[in-house]
Amino acid sequence: MTLHLKIWRQKNREDKGQMADYTLENVSPDASFLEMLDQLNEELIPQGVEPVAFDHDCREGICGMCSLMINGQAHGPEAETTTCQLHMRKFSDGDTIVIEPFRARAFPVEKDLMVDRSAFDEIIAAGGFVSVNTGNAQDANAILIPKEQADLAMDAAACIGCGACVASCKNASAMLFVSAKVSQMALLPQGQAEASQRVQNMVKKMDDLGFGNCTNEAECEASCPKGIEITNIARMNRELLKAAVTSKTTPTV
Ligand code: SF4
Ligand code: FES
Repeated sequence: MTLHLKIWRQKNREDKGQMADYTLENVSPDASFLEMLDQLNEELIPQGVEPVAFDHDCREGICGMCSLMINGQAHGPEAETTTCQLHMRKFSDGDTIVIEPFRARAFPVEKDLMVDRSAFDEIIAAGGFVSVNTGNAQDANAILIPKEQADLAMDAAACIGCGACVASCKNASAMLFVSAKVSQMALLPQGQAEASQRVQNMVKKMDDLGFGNCTNEAECEASCPKGIEITNIARMNRELLKAAVTSKTTPTV
C-alpha cells in the first residue's frame, strides 16, 4: 500500500507545531499502525530527518500508552481497539491519514505525537488504591460477592488509562477514566473502607488538574478501546453524593 501521511510535528512543549506531509510506500496491510510509523522512521533517519516521536510500550493493547488521534478519532476507526492493535488493512491503498496527538489542557504535548498524561497518575495517587490492611487471603467464599457485581467491577477494571476518553470529549473531561477507577473499588467490599475519601479526593484532583465536566455526550464511551460504559459515571456521581451527605471527611488532596 502507498499512504499519504499528515503528521503533527512539534519540537517541544513551547514549539507551536505544524502538520508535515510524508508519502510511505510498500506498507504491508498486515502491519500494525505503530509498525507503519516505525517503517516511516526507518526511512526518515537515513535522510537526516528527525524521526516522529510517539508513545508506545506493550503493543498488545494492555498498557494504554499508544495515544494517537487518527483521522480525528482517538485510536482510529475501529471500535474497541487500541492504536497498537489497529492494522493497516483497515485503510485503503492511496489513503491520506491525518495523525495528531491527544489534545487536552491537562495533557501537554511533549514532542510530535507524545503527550504528558501524568495528570492521570496524579488522580490515581489521590485515592485510586486500597491502603487498608485486608489481611491474609480469604477462603474462596468467605467474602460473598454477587456474580453480577464482580462482573461490573472487572469491566471497570479493564480501563488501561489511555486517555482516549479525554481526547474525544469536547470538554476534555476525565470522568470516564476516574469513574472506572472509582467503580472498580466501589463495587467490591475491599474498597468500602476508604470509599468516601477516595471519590472526593479523586474528583477534586481531576477538577484541580484542569479536566472539564461531563455533559453526557458519550464520545468517551464511543472512543474507549476497552468498552468502559458511561454508567460508571453515574455510579461515581452517586458515590460522590453519598460521600457528601454521609461522610464527615472532606477532600484531603
Ligand atoms: S476509560 Fe477507556 S478511553 Fe478512558 S482511559 Fe480508560 S480505557 Fe482509555
Ligand atoms: S502500546 Fe500498550 S496499549 Fe498500545
